[in-house]
Amino acid sequence: MNKFTNHSMHEIIGILKKDYDLANKEIIEFEVINPDLFSSKYNGELVCLGDTEYIYRSYKSWVDLSQKMYCKILTPTIFSEETVIIRFEKLNLEDSFHKIKLEKEEKYGTNSTFSLINKNEEPEILLTYLEALKNVKIQTKTRVLNLGINSADEFELIQKYCKNFSDIEFVGIDYCESAIKLAKEKFKESENVSLYSYDINNLQELDLGEFDLIISIGTLQSSNLDFNKIFMNIVQNYLKKDGSMILGFPNSRWIDGEIIYGAKAPNYSFSEMSILFKDAYFCKKYLQQKKFRVTLTGKYYVFLTATSIRKDSLSQ
Ligand SMILES: C[S@@+](CC[C@H](N)C(=O)[O-])C[C@H]1O[C@@H](n2cnc3c(N)ncnc32)[C@H](O)[C@@H]1O
Repeated sequence: MNKFTNHSMHEIIGILKKDYDLANKEIIEFEVINPDLFSSKYNGELVCLGDTEYIYRSYKSWVDLSQKMYCKILTPTIFSEETVIIRFEKLNLEDSFHKIKLEKEEKYGTNSTFSLINKNEEPEILLTYLEALKNVKIQTKTRVLNLGINSADEFELIQKYCKNFSDIEFVGIDYCESAIKLAKEKFKESENVSLYSYDINNLQELDLGEFDLIISIGTLQSSNLDFNKIFMNIVQNYLKKDGSMILGFPNSRWIDGEIIYGAKAPNYSFSEMSILFKDAYFCKKYLQQKKFRVTLTGKYYVFLTATSIRKDSLSQ
């Protein structure tokens, strides 16, 4: 087993890549200084214990490295008074819903791998979404539309967060029948929630009217939707002039149980964010021209939050 003392991160990565045949589920182990022995240290600071010189690194470094090497981090073990064993388990790269070929409507259905994912249990995504809900003052809204609602996790969170949930009208759309069926079951007691199994491309057929908050997370960039066209259509025809919008752009992939940072790009084996930046910036510019204040926040999902700067919405 390798022991790393004052090796640079560059050296460590080189050694790990050379020594391990990163086959599926292989465990990688190496010994490093115990980060708990220090506080207020930055990664890369030299520290001496006895005669040995170490480079300090926090557990955050090892978590980041595990993710960049497509591994899950396992519980470290104490090895000596000074050191711990860091353990990575290689992910099965084939185990990802992104690779599964199903009917497009059921790709995200209740039998899919996607249905095992709960974004409300991912702290980074949860806190960014909650911040966006706070920024748009969700409790002041009267009609809320969610496009690509799936099984309505996003409404469940609002229900927990928002004391006046039952005073607000919620409409959710998704063409996945099994997901909408589950969503309807969750909200069967809530008369203020309407859920439709419908194609966003045919939204005009539903005669939905206007909303003062539109939410769409991980949906508008789907290959069956013409992103710019559908986005402008939504703003022009469904968003009140003094309304608000929350859009979530995925900047991660889900592989073998883990969330891996970085957008999935069609023609690259690695994560690539050009499409995310292009689409997010298109929305930002478009909404700014229409007198919205727009912020982009978040890590695993980039959240675009738009609030109207028209006089009447500022006075709320
Ligand atoms: C990646 S999932 C995101 C679901 C949920 N918003 C979330 O973030 O967990 C995309 C959702 O959009 C739905 N969807 C994609 N294209 C659609 C379309 N043209 N009409 C209706 N729903 C669509 C899918 O069925 C799926 O539930």
